[in-house]
Amino acid sequence: MEIKVFDSPEEIASVCADEFTALLTSKENCVLGLATGASPVPTYKELVRRYNAGVISFKHASSFNLDEYVELPRNDKNSYYTFMHENLFNSVDIDEANVHILNGNAEDTAKECADFDAAIEAAGGIDIQLLGIGTNGHIGFNEPSSSFSDGTFKVKLTDSTIKSNSIYFTENAMPRYALTMGIQSIMKAKKIVLIATGASKAEAVKNAVKGEVTPMCPASVLQNHPNCIFLLDTAAASLLG
Ligand code: F6R
Repeated sequence: MEIKVFDSPEEIASVCADEFTALLTSKENCVLGLATGASPVPTYKELVRRYNAGVISFKHASSFNLDEYVELPRNDKNSYYTFMHENLFNSVDIDEANVHILNGNAEDTAKECADFDAAIEAAGGIDIQLLGIGTNGHIGFNEPSSSFSDGTFKVKLTDSTIKSNSIYFTENAMPRYALTMGIQSIMKAKKIVLIATGASKAEAVKNAVKGEVTPMCPASVLQNHPNCIFLLDTAAASLLG
């Protein structure tokens, strides 16, 4: 696990965008693992800027998103489908046929999850997986005590995640369940880049980097990944000592 600390989210975005740029310019049919939430927004802005500058193209790339809420209409303003289109996909040349976002309204969620893992395999596996981290150490929606051997699955969200994310749900109640790539699906990525900013992430970052590898802090499993970088601001890194 490599740890890099920066002064601002913009510097993190630039370094993270460099990772994606190197991939997009060297491997035409590359496979991107993407995240939602506040942490990747500056990176998506920078990728859109580089796309507009003609530096990168997503024309032949495919993408797989980490997670999606269950029973939230696809076009709801808080769905991760909407988030990804507003923050990245609508502004670049990715082929919609190559965009994979879990369908939280699927009748058979177990099949939806199994098909998603199969589609990742069929695409050749994820080249770079972008991650944020929850204040409780979650990655994707793998909440504390999640099994390290899960593929994509339906999860009941914890009170801590509901508290963190309910700020976005001003008009309707926040869903209590989500579909998420499991730890095993995430760990199969060839490279993992995790972004954490702000003091509220410091404890989770400390547990992930310095603590024991335990399902109680799902991000701690990343200590076992052969090619994983944490991009942190000084506040998120403040307890690393
Ligand atoms: C989002 C996701 C979550 C977030 C995490 C941090 O797709 O899977 O694990 O990465 O909750 O969220 P932010 O970046 O909003 O602090």
